[in-house]
Amino acid sequence: MSSVPNPSNQSLRFPFLNSKRAFFLLFGSMALLVIYVFEVPLMNPNSPAWAHFAPKSRLWLLPHALGGTLALLLAPFQFSNRLRRWNLQLHRVLGRIYVGAVMVAAPMAIPIAAIQGPPELLMAAVMQSSGWLITTLIALYCIRTGNITQHRQWMIRSYPFGLVFLATRTLFLVPAIHRMGLLGIIEVVWSCVFAAAFIPTFVINWRAIFPLKKMQAAKAGG
Ligand code: HEM
Repeated sequence: MSSVPNPSNQSLRFPFLNSKRAFFLLFGSMALLVIYVFEVPLMNPNSPAWAHFAPKSRLWLLPHALGGTLALLLAPFQFSNRLRRWNLQLHRVLGRIYVGAVMVAAPMAIPIAAIQGPPELLMAAVMQSSGWLITTLIALYCIRTGNITQHRQWMIRSYPFGLVFLATRTLFLVPAIHRMGLLGIIEVVWSCVFAAAFIPTFVINWRAIFPLKKMQAAKAGG
């Protein structure tokens, strides 16, 4: 066998690099779809989409949407190892903005959910908001105390709570779910909140659950 490094083997040596790109590509496409279907109509104050929001919840909506958008846009940069190695100061600044954006967007979702209803989704909003706040604050605490491994892991736990926004709206567009009406919305929202809380633990522990054969052999050899 040749010992010359083969660049085409890169994906085998860094499998997560490819899954990370696929992940951001998937959610980037969802973001475009959601902006086109749900957010563009909101730009028109005479649209039914805008009329759907009660005047009281419109006050909360602007800071909520701006904070949420900022957090969703910044996080992919924070997960870039290349960017962090290139400019650690930029990573720190963007990280602080991400934390600030979450601190604004997440609590404001609760009055919006309470005003807009349905009541069946109020606790889902509380769970999603508190999950997003708590995981982000733990990630911040870990980096302030120099615990880089835990900081990365809690950031991986934080971001999915924001991504629920994109996942739920994308799923609402699936015809079979759309036809279910309110029940479909409730099932989708609760499932996505559950997935946001559970999937990161699986991602973080992926290599420990499925070790590479090479790693197993090295352990067996002492
Ligand atoms: C803790 C996380 C979040 C919760 C609990 C939450 C909750 C909500 C709720 C209950 C509504 C009203 C929906 C309706 O009545 O149709 C809403 C609207 C909205 N949220 Fe959030 N949200 C969260 C995160 C985000 C994020 C990350 C963004 C970033 C883009 C965002 C942007 C918006 C926008 C633009 C609207 C108005 C348009 C729409 O409903 O599509 N939210 N949110």
